[in-house]
Order: sequence, then structure tokens, then C-alpha cells
Amino acid sequence: MRQTSAVAVLTGSGVSAESGIPTFRGGGDSLWKRYDPRELATPEAFSRDPRLVWEWYLWRRSLVVGAEPNPAHLALAEMEGFFSSFTLITQNVDGLHERAGSRNVLELHGNILRSRCTAEGEISEPRRQEVPPRCRRCGALLRPDVVWFGEMLPEGPVRAAFEASSSCGVFFSVGTSSLVYPAAALPEEARASGAILVEINPEETPLTRRADFSFRESASVVLPELVKRLRAQGDY
Ligand code: OAD
Repeated sequence: MRQTSAVAVLTGSGVSAESGIPTFRGGGDSLWKRYDPRELATPEAFSRDPRLVWEWYLWRRSLVVGAEPNPAHLALAEMEGFFSSFTLITQNVDGLHERAGSRNVLELHGNILRSRCTAEGEISEPRRQEVPPRCRRCGALLRPDVVWFGEMLPEGPVRAAFEASSSCGVFFSVGTSSLVYPAAALPEEARASGAILVEINPEETPLTRRADFSFRESASVVLPELVKRLRAQGDY
């Protein structure tokens, strides 16, 4: 890490697990064990039953609003100051990286706290407290500003994420199952461009065997320790 000035980090829901936000897959009571994504996280589900989808998202919003960044988020925010180029690419929609102080964050799957008008496509506020909420400006249904299964990811952040991955010296994959594309292609992009690949995840993933270093530990343990050691080297 001392030999590089450019670092890219891809995070997934495991980074927020210790903030009390459930992951989608993996051990414990992860979301896709309890709920069917086809009923809740697709455009078809929303057309069929916008109230049900909104109720689920309002529940998830309440978890996010009540959560605090954990030591993994805080360590990543501190690491940003150590490198002249530091890109934090996240699949998470909880905004906890920004709340921890990270500045250069690319949100690939949107943000659960924002709502978007289904007619105008713009970020909007609800006109009153109602479920499902409607756009204050035009009265059309609002939807959570997140990416659902079968939808395109936002073009700008995806392009920037691939650029950062192909130009970094070290790439971290943290708290993601490495199953959902295109995010799962980013470590491959980094590796093909010569970056050192580091994975932090208590469980094995399809990426584990391809990583140069694999830490089978919680992100909230490994990342603060890494920051401590970088700081102790004195150059940072
Ligand atoms: P997943 O739920 O698929 O994976 C979470 C990963 O975090 C698992 O591999 C766990 O082993 C790991 N994990 C759990 N606790 C951890 C900890 N304390 N420290 C580090 N790792 C830990 O989450 P994502 O990979 O983010 O997409 O899922 C990708 C996408 O699939 C999500 O953005 C969402 C989901 O369906 C959409 O909704 C479009």
C-alpha cells in the first residue's frame, strides 16, 4: 500500500452488518432468506403492489435512520485521506459511508433515503404522509431511488467505478458476496489492470481464490487495524 497512490474499495452489505442492517445473503436472518426479491425488489413487484413494496422499504428506511456508522465505515473514511486517489464504490443504499465522512463515494445501487418520481424521473419529496407516497410536484407515484433487479445501474457512477478499478494499485472487496453483477466484475477489472486484490469477508466467496490477500474476518476488525498500521508507519 505504501507503493501506491491510488486505492479503490468496493463495499457490500456486510460492511453495514455491524450497524444492525441485515445483509441480503449469508448467515443469520439475511433478507433474501426471509423475503422473495421478486415480490419486493423488481419493477414488476412495484407495478403489482406499490403499497407492499413501499411498506417493506419504509421498514428498511427505519433501520437505516436508526443505525450509526461502525468502525469499518469510519476506517474507510480515514483511509481516504491517506491516498491522493481513493474511490469508495458501494452497493449499499444506506448512506452510512457518507455519514462516516467518506467523500468520494460512488453509489451503484442508489440510496434508500431518496425517493424518485415515477413520471418525471427526478428526486422528489412526498406531497403528504401517505403509503404509497405521491410526488409533491405532479402527484404521480414516488418510488425508492434504488436499483431493482432487472434495472440498469446509474451510468455515471458505473463508468467512474470501472475507471477507478482499472487505475488503482490496490483494490479492496469488502463485505460483498461477489455474486451480483456488474459490481462483481470490478475486482476482475482491477486485477486485469495489475492491481493487488484484497478481500475482507468472514465467509468464502467466488472471489476468495482469486484474491492476493483474503482476510476471513469482520470488516470492523480488519479495517481499523489496517488504518492503525498505516498510521503507525508515519507516512500518512
Ligand atoms: P450480500 O448480502 O450478498 O453479501 C454480504 C456479504 O457480507 C456476505 O458475503 C457475508 O459473508 C459478508 N459479511 C457479513 N458480515 C460481515 C462483516 N462484519 N464484515 C465483512 N463482511 C461481512 O450483500 P452484497 O454483496 O452487498 O442489490 O449484495 C449485492 C446486492 O445484492 C445488493 O446491493 C442488493 C442485493 O440483492 C440490489 O438490491 C439490486
